[in-house]
Parts: sequence; structure tokens; C-alpha cells
Amino acid sequence: MIHIPKTEYARRRKALMAQMEPNSIAILPAAAVAIRNRDVEHVYRQDSDFQYLSGFPEPQAVIVLLPGRAHGEYVLFCRERNAERELWDGLRAGQEGAIRDFGADDAFPINDIDDILPGLIEGRDRVYSAMGSNAEFDRHLMEWINVIRSKAHLGAQPPNEFVALDHLLHDMRLYKSAAEVKVMREAARISCQAHIRAMQASRVGLYEYSLEAELDYEFRKGGAKMPAYGSIVAAGRNGCILHYQQNDAPLKDGDLVLIDAGCEIDCYASDITRTWPVNGRFSPEQKAIYELVLASQVAAFAEIAPNKHWNQAHEATVRVITTGLVALGLLQGEVDELIASEAYKAFYMHRAGHWLGMDVHDVGEYKVGGEWRVLEVGMALTVEPGIYIAPDNLNVAKKWRGIGVRIEDDVVVTKNGCEILTLGAPKSVAEIEALMAAAQVHAA
Ligand code: GLY
Ligand code: MN
Ligand code: MN
Repeated sequence: MIHIPKTEYARRRKALMAQMEPNSIAILPAAAVAIRNRDVEHVYRQDSDFQYLSGFPEPQAVIVLLPGRAHGEYVLFCRERNAERELWDGLRAGQEGAIRDFGADDAFPINDIDDILPGLIEGRDRVYSAMGSNAEFDRHLMEWINVIRSKAHLGAQPPNEFVALDHLLHDMRLYKSAAEVKVMREAARISCQAHIRAMQASRVGLYEYSLEAELDYEFRKGGAKMPAYGSIVAAGRNGCILHYQQNDAPLKDGDLVLIDAGCEIDCYASDITRTWPVNGRFSPEQKAIYELVLASQVAAFAEIAPNKHWNQAHEATVRVITTGLVALGLLQGEVDELIASEAYKAFYMHRAGHWLGMDVHDVGEYKVGGEWRVLEVGMALTVEPGIYIAPDNLNVAKKWRGIGVRIEDDVVVTKNGCEILTLGAPKSVAEIEALMAAAQVHAA
């Protein structure tokens, strides 16, 4: 199983501590367990920032980073081992495991945090935390600070500055290391297999969920614990609903099906969209729209390289799509004017992509000082143009209505351009039709 090596977590902690102001402390809580209903919990997913710095997979844990602390800079609070709880719920690292397997310099039971943490904070000038994202944790933090304040008359020194950790940490997360790209390649590989399997299984008379089952099968078989986000399996006019998740409609002859799905490996997402005809053959109108989206994506790839800015790829897709919609008679007017008036938004209403990483819509600023961010080696993003012709769009001929096409790939910026991680999922009309025809022959 491909995963982030332990040494990398240590490197990240060091890199973060090197950027913290002198005499400061950083405190991050693990994700809480979410209740699904009554005694049933949602599958646990660690908080991405917490995971990024620790690789520690358990809930009820708190990372404390204390640059320069003589007794160790990395302290982890976590659950104690407990034979009975472990019999019911599974093994715990405990404090020994936290030190032995997860690189903590010191580890304490989470139940002792109220007694110990104020002493670690005391005397530090600044506290870094993800303020505002976890109200309960923010409240705890203030309680710990108040413990120190209440002892001020005895000489205790409470910190004076509270700093949002996000800025430092999220900028680090934006630049993917070689190890991260390797994990993202693996997530992409498995997700490509899943899309291929769904294409091969596609038949008139099945349901959207039939194809979702094929995706899930490949995700789990590849070792992914879960999809990186709720899979979108949208047949026919459902393809025009951008975040469709009902996934229960029948697959009809003559319709397209749009699948936006990717798995997560070691907390790294992939995010792929493919659109294909349910019956294996594109109609002329479907093909025209599909080829246009594909051409716009190709134009976008050419705008992803160091020193190009974030919005150039989006602008490229807008120009190609607007020009194509005019050529097809779906928009009327001058291309430059249609771009300026954003007329294309009736068909292409979202952006061409987003940062990709531990979160599918990953952290990282898109603008710096009011200007679009300049791309650098190691940044990962999606490229996902689409055209959606609303079923009730009376401004276009009937034959176009209800067609929804999106094509989405994942890329990492390289020295000379970008590496496309998701080439394994077929994309040209010829490739898709050939793959589906072969699957149908095989099944007959
Ligand atoms: N699957 C969500 C997105 O493509 O942004
Ligand atoms: Mn996406
Ligand atoms: Mn997507």
C-alpha cells in the first residue's frame, strides 16, 4: 500500500516550527467522531491539518508543537490503551505507540490534558491554532488560557497573541512533495480503473446506482477506504445538475451519463469526471458538445506551467467554449463581447478547477495581494470544464436540450508544464466508444 512515510511527517513538523515566531506554541485537535444516527458513527476521517502533521489516525487526540522545548518539541495527547474498549472498538496506539510509531517526543493521556496543557502553554508568547473552525476546541483553549491567567498573581505568564495557524499550514499543504504526488498518483490510478469499470458496465436498463456500485468496488479493491467526496452518477438531464447525488434514475437509451467520482488514499483525494453515452455511441449533438469540452480542456492544460497564473487555464476554457458555442449556433454574437458579458455562463457556470490534495477542494490561496496566484512546481489542481444545456432552455433547438458534459482531470505543476495524473481513464470519443463496444461484445 502506497502511503506517506513517517519521515515526511517529521519533516513537515520541523518545517512548520521553523516558520513559527520564537517562543510560540501550536495546538491542533483531531477530528471529532460524528454520529450518524443513535449508536451508529460515520466512518472516521481524520482532520486534514492534523493528519498532515502527524499521520495519527485516531480521534480524541491533540497535537502540541513547542519549538525549542528541551524535553521534546512534539507532544501528542491521545487515548490511553484500554483492553475492554479495544475489544469493542479496535486497537489504540496509546502513549507508548504515539512515541514508538508516530514520532512523538512525549505523549500524555487525553484525559489529563486539562492538567498538563496549561503548563505547556504558560510562558509562551504566542499560540497558533485553527481559530474559528472548531468552536468546542476554541472554548477549551480559552479555558486553558484562563487557568494560566488565574495564576498570574503567582507569576504565571499567559500568552498575549493568538495567531491563525491556517496561513502557514495551508501554504505548506499547497506544495506537494514527491511522496505526496506518489500517493496522489495511486489515488488517481485506482479512480481511473473505477471509471473504466463503470464504462464497461454501462447498459440501458441499469440504474445510476448500478454504476456507482462498480466505482465503489474498484475503490475498495484498490485499498481506498472511501470516496474522496460523494460520487455523482448523473444520467440524461441529471448531468445538468452540478452536484447531483441522488444516483437512482434509470440509464436510458440515447442518454449520456456523467460520473464525477474519485477515491481517497492515505487522505489524498482524486477527482475525475468522465461523460459517456449509456449505449456506447455518441449522438451527433452529444459528440459536438463533448469534443468542444475536450478541446477547451486541452487548451487549459497548455496554460498550466510555472509562472502562468491561476486564472489562465480558466480563461482558456472560456474562450474555446464560447467560440465553439457560437459555431454550433448555441450562442449568437461576437466572441469577445460574449466573454465580456459572461454569456457563456448560461452553459458553463463553474470555474475550470480548484486546488487538489488532502481535501478535494484543497486549501491554499487563489489570490495573493489581490492578484491571481502564480503557479509553481508541486501545486496540484483539477481541470474540469463543462457544458450544461438546461432541459428547459427554450433559446436553443430541442435536440441540444438536456445534454450535460464535464471532463475532469487532476494535474501537478512540473518544471516544464504539468503532469496529468488521470490519463488512465479514456477520454477521446474513439477511445470511449471502442472500450464500450469491446465490453458489450464480451458480455454478449
Ligand atoms: N467533485 C467536486 C468537484 O469536481 O469539484
Ligand atoms: Mn473537481
Ligand atoms: Mn469532480
